[in-house]
Amino acid sequence: MEWIEKHPDVSPRLTDYDAECSNLNWPDALARWGAGENQPFNMAVAAVDRHVAEGLAERPALRIIDRDGGDRSLTYGALQAQTARFAGALGSAGVGVGDRVMAVLGPVPEVHVAVLGTVRAGAVFGGLFSAFGPDLLAQRLRLAEARVLVTTTAVYERKIAPIRDRLPSLRDIWLVDGLPENPPPGLRRLADVLAEAPYAEPAATRAESPALLHFTSGTTGEPKALIHAHRAAVAHALTGRWALDLGPEDCFWCTADPGWVTGISYGVFAPLLNGATALVDARDFDPDHWLENLRDRAVNVWYTSPTALRMLRRAVAEAPALPALRHIASVGEPLDSETVEWGLRAFGQPVHDTYWQSETGAIVIANLPVRAIKPGAMGLPVPGCIPAIVTPGDPDSPVTDGAVGELAIRGDWPALFRDCPNRPDYRARVTRSGWYLTGDLARRDADGYFWFVGRGDDMIKTAGHMVGPFEVEAALMAHPRVSEAGVVGAPDPVAGEVVWAFVVPTGEGEADETLRRDILAHARRRLGPAAAPRVILFRRRLPHTRSGKILRRRLRRLASRISGRQSGVKA
Ligand code: PRX
Repeated sequence: MEWIEKHPDVSPRLTDYDAECSNLNWPDALARWGAGENQPFNMAVAAVDRHVAEGLAERPALRIIDRDGGDRSLTYGALQAQTARFAGALGSAGVGVGDRVMAVLGPVPEVHVAVLGTVRAGAVFGGLFSAFGPDLLAQRLRLAEARVLVTTTAVYERKIAPIRDRLPSLRDIWLVDGLPENPPPGLRRLADVLAEAPYAEPAATRAESPALLHFTSGTTGEPKALIHAHRAAVAHALTGRWALDLGPEDCFWCTADPGWVTGISYGVFAPLLNGATALVDARDFDPDHWLENLRDRAVNVWYTSPTALRMLRRAVAEAPALPALRHIASVGEPLDSETVEWGLRAFGQPVHDTYWQSETGAIVIANLPVRAIKPGAMGLPVPGCIPAIVTPGDPDSPVTDGAVGELAIRGDWPALFRDCPNRPDYRARVTRSGWYLTGDLARRDADGYFWFVGRGDDMIKTAGHMVGPFEVEAALMAHPRVSEAGVVGAPDPVAGEVVWAFVVPTGEGEADETLRRDILAHARRRLGPAAAPRVILFRRRLPHTRSGKILRRRLRRLASRISGRQSGVKA
């Protein structure tokens, strides 16, 4: 595999990375931000008020593209005023320290106002996907014990009104657009609420006080509500600087939905903490709009997902020149080497993978701006995180370089979740002997780069071999006619499981038997017979979670249904 050096014309902004990071020690870094143990610290103040106090009230904090394409800015000063009123409105509504405020909104500036206003008031903020149906929303709002909800009229009418009687703690609902006729008690327009609200000074939170709540679905069972503290902001700021090359006055575009942890930690906090301008585009995905944003809004740093990049790749024949773009990074699912290299061809910039979880709260491994990329690898540890590959479940037994094991991380980075109120045993279960166990399988190579293999529970055991779905998917995606692949195990009476691949072919030509055989031969050459798929099925699209991960659970069900039917036919 070829290493990719940074393009010679594009130098990372952080030129003294080694000096800054070689001896990083989190307690000192936290103390520098005033977020040491027990210190009074509020992440909204660090993100907004601090810049205003430094005379930067007129700097744009948000560049907002409305649904109709309107383009406007909100300064740090204006954002401070709105968040202080949102905090005041919470106080007037009797919302106290630690109470939960949830938002079901797409990428709109009201998210920034709600999250910053909530944590300013000492309450806890959580975002949920607006594409969730009523049952998923009801389950999460109930688990979160949501006291206030900020959402749209459409979401309220279609999804919240029918479940409201299941949510006894939900007392206030503030709508970002219009009010329905005969609004029930507690339902108000956010604009009216803010217009009447007093300006609130920040609450006396401490660095360890709870601030954010993120749901993780896990692969089984009910979603876990993870609580993160105010001091996580220091990790958002510094990983933004080290792994995303973010700095003051950059235009930063994080395309993640605010219903996902990425849309909050990096969509809201990382750019503001670094004094940058965050681009907020309320429109649905459209390749032309995306390229227009990158070019006309002079995006310097772009943080997105492999799925979005692959969708763009399918839709775009030739990308325009993007002279402002300095760094592209992705997160959330494995980044195959084809997409890394496509970035280089299309934008003159490779895509830098970053790895983290809702639990870690911030990036822990990344293809760093200051280091060469290994396409297909997740990258190197970020400063202050010490990852290792260990025997699954046993951090005291490391495995050798090159072998597959569970990814564990040691270090006192401040964004690791504090607790999980609906699963009080969870934190103790995943932290052991000073290590946090990720549940992901990975390997480390001799150069210290980490390679993702799969979620522990997605591994395929075929004829005694352990096969990681991502390695098979990456090999398939290296075939010129494959744009996406999802790989799972299907039950087999002889081998236990066999490898099945669901493949989305690229547009050109027929997806026929000849193509199927060609892809199969390509996979066998790359992977050998043990890991190559036994079955390849063409699909127009693959099922994804809201955050873009391939829904392997659904593919597994499909594969076992089809394989059951086939064995039935044979019998
Ligand atoms: O399995 C890993 C995958 O996404 C999981 C975390 O999901 P979530 O908590 O929703 O994400 C939070 C913010 C990223 C991980 O356990 N994952 C994440 N990043 C990568 C990844 N898998 C492969 N490569 C990545 N870069």
